[in-house]
Amino acid sequence: MYRNTTCGELRLADAGKEVTIAGWVQKARKMGGMTFVDVRDRYGITQVVFDSDDSQELFEAANRLGREYVVRITGKVRERESKNGNLPTGDIEITATALTVLNKSKVPPFTIEDNTDGGDDLRMKYRYLDLRRQCVKKNLELRHRMAFEIRRYLDSKGFLEIETPILVKSTPEGARDFVVPSRMNPGEFYALPQSPQLFKQLLMVSGYDRYFQIAKCFRDEDLRADRQPEFTQIDCEMSFVEQEDVIQMFEGLVKHIFKYVKGIDFTEPFPRMTWHDAMRLYGSDKPDLRFGMQFVEFTDLAKGHGFAVTDDAQLTVGILAKGCAGYSRKQIDELTEFVKRPQVGAKGLMWVKFEQDGSIKSSIGKFYTQEELKAWGERAGAEPGDMLLLMSGDAMKTRKQLCELRLELGNRLGLRDKEKFACLWVVDFPLFEWDDETQRYYAMHHPFTSPNPEDIPMLRTDTGNVRATAYDIVVNGTELGGGSIRIHDAELQNEMFELLGFTPERAREQFGFLMSAFQYGAPPHGGLALGFDRFVSILAGLDTIRDVIAFPKNNSGRDVMNESPSPIDPAQLEELKLELKIEK
Ligand code: AMO
Repeated sequence: MYRNTTCGELRLADAGKEVTIAGWVQKARKMGGMTFVDVRDRYGITQVVFDSDDSQELFEAANRLGREYVVRITGKVRERESKNGNLPTGDIEITATALTVLNKSKVPPFTIEDNTDGGDDLRMKYRYLDLRRQCVKKNLELRHRMAFEIRRYLDSKGFLEIETPILVKSTPEGARDFVVPSRMNPGEFYALPQSPQLFKQLLMVSGYDRYFQIAKCFRDEDLRADRQPEFTQIDCEMSFVEQEDVIQMFEGLVKHIFKYVKGIDFTEPFPRMTWHDAMRLYGSDKPDLRFGMQFVEFTDLAKGHGFAVTDDAQLTVGILAKGCAGYSRKQIDELTEFVKRPQVGAKGLMWVKFEQDGSIKSSIGKFYTQEELKAWGERAGAEPGDMLLLMSGDAMKTRKQLCELRLELGNRLGLRDKEKFACLWVVDFPLFEWDDETQRYYAMHHPFTSPNPEDIPMLRTDTGNVRATAYDIVVNGTELGGGSIRIHDAELQNEMFELLGFTPERAREQFGFLMSAFQYGAPPHGGLALGFDRFVSILAGLDTIRDVIAFPKNNSGRDVMNESPSPIDPAQLEELKLELKIEK
């Protein structure tokens, strides 16, 4: 046996025991005739003492240990003289009686500590060392625990976990596909799945009425903090259900995870909001409900006062920043700069301060009387000490810009507490999204999403206002998951393809297998997928999903550790009958 205990287990009650541990040298400190070595493994850190009075030979061997050497140590547990309250094992130490160096290590390029001196790039290059750090390990442990609880919950509800292929047919709807050339079929390509969407629908046709999969998905899209080219979904589908059944089932899953992984019991149903209300009140289809600051509209009060900015605007809308009337010129300038950044794109910011003494100060005081601005304050529910921040312009654009400001203020005012969780269902999404550039409608969710049955008569007459039977679950301003009830009727599906600008030939070419399956008795079905990486990072209180993925890609989609993507051998290209147009 290599070891009979771990570096995280020993306590005062173990004093006197003879033990053997194995792990990595975190650090070694020589103090006179004694050397203290901290040994680390997955479970924790334990201090080992090498006393020259006990064995000169062992003492000297300990002094030759370097950081990250792999060692095996036998010794006796004893109470520590100076205890370390920061370590679970801090009450004890092991007095060594044997030391084996199992492997040496080069000096690591950064310290293996929570507060490491290694920058992002360096840590990604040596991700296998980064993964040794306790704070990173904690995230992977959480990920495992969550995956386990997800399976436990879904199994208890009768779901079957079924794997679907990774080499699939390319369907250029949604994001871009990653493609894989086929050697055996020269000139032809597989795609990596953006999600198992079509397969899970086929499984419903096959009668597997409750399916799930913790599935790898691949999308060639621009990366952000909550996006990776390769990510994991908790993908689910059910037959003989309506929207309400799906929402209940997966609200249950989310609550189960919060309860058994995080110890948080949500006893009330999650709130629900229509997509229209979410856009109107928060300027976002994924509002962060950890704090209020709902939008208040002033278009009617603002127009007709000789102020071009509000006169020419489709919408004037604001948020009330509680207790912010004391903001200095500099602070307001910072907020103005924030909204003018290209990422936000606003032209400017207006403000009205409701002072403690009842007076009102404003950047637009030239155009509105104190009385008029008082009425604005009343509409927003302002109290002395509050500040109203306003924007004007095109309705949808302005709402999105104000949404950014609301989140920024939320950050500045400390209202986005990572230990607080606000879950929400957003429902009644529009079925279609108009694209100015290509002058056509796109499916807002995907082309298999069922219209709200009440709106089917409007499909051709009022296409843009047709509601989908689609829903998203949002946690703390992040879209955790989304899904829909699917079209199971071949005729309606054909009509959808037509509205989305697919010719019958193209629809058949891309989705023919689904359409033909639908001719053999497709049950009513629907489902959803939760972003697993996002779910883990929300529970871990992290800002990026990279930290919950063992081997993530960087922002350019590169794995800097194994240096991929990388050129391939000319012989491989030849075998695939591929020719490159770029000169490397
Ligand atoms: P959707 O495209 O909304 O739906 O994806 C579901 C969830 O997956 C997560 N997600 C991502 N996570 C990390 N990196 C990415 N690049 C990324 N893209 C998406 C999000 C998102 O909410 N087949 C449908 C689901 C269905 O209708 O059942 C689908 O894939 O958390």
